[in-house]
Amino acid sequence: MKRMIIAIDGYSACGKSTLAKALGKVLHFAYIDTGAMYRAVTLYFLRHSVDLNDVKQVQNALANIEIHFERQKTGNHVFLNGEDIETEIRKMYVSESVSQVAVLSDVRRQMVRLQQAMGQRRSLIMDGRDIGTVVFPKADLKIFLTADPTIRTKRRVDELKSKGQIIDFEAVKQNLLERDRIDSTRSDSPLRQAEDAILIDNTQLTPDEQLQKVLELVAVLDKQLVF
Ligand code: DC
Repeated sequence: MKRMIIAIDGYSACGKSTLAKALGKVLHFAYIDTGAMYRAVTLYFLRHSVDLNDVKQVQNALANIEIHFERQKTGNHVFLNGEDIETEIRKMYVSESVSQVAVLSDVRRQMVRLQQAMGQRRSLIMDGRDIGTVVFPKADLKIFLTADPTIRTKRRVDELKSKGQIIDFEAVKQNLLERDRIDSTRSDSPLRQAEDAILIDNTQLTPDEQLQKVLELVAVLDKQLVF
């Protein structure tokens, strides 16, 4: 199979990582969750009380941050300066601050550089908000996911519940909508559908139906592909 970059962008809790993980498994491609990288930076900033309005503080903090992924039994885990923070970054207090961190150009520049380096010379599935527009504008396949906000909230609440976190439905819904608002209106690389991205509304789709749809698109790109 030829080398391929697949970019998946879309709103918060639209099932981007569910799709990306499943694709990675079937295609044997690496999968990178770029949201986890912004969450890792946010966790560092919160722990070190970095003032987001102070450019020098932000730049100094960024110089002290090392982020990488390691494959574990439960999937890819993100590491911050050697610590496995995969569980911590999914908590609500990180979700509540991450969009304010992700608007910062210094943060974005560092993350985009890292993400582009990860895509050198290998096939990759990457999900986020600016993958098809900024990180890999020449990606072989670009998917833009959307879904009804109430369905998205229900999926996220169920996911948090399965991890033992009991969270108020309305609080989760407000967080998703607020992040969508900040992510879509920021001046540096806002969330938007790339012109050549394929829009999939998965409100009525099961994860498997969504996966099959995208595998059909991949098969068109690579005629030799055998599932
Ligand atoms: O995918 P997620 O919900 O874990 O992402 C968390 C936040 O990170 C999201 O609200 C916006 C930001 N983000 C971004 O700005 N650019 C990306 N490529 C990925 C995430």
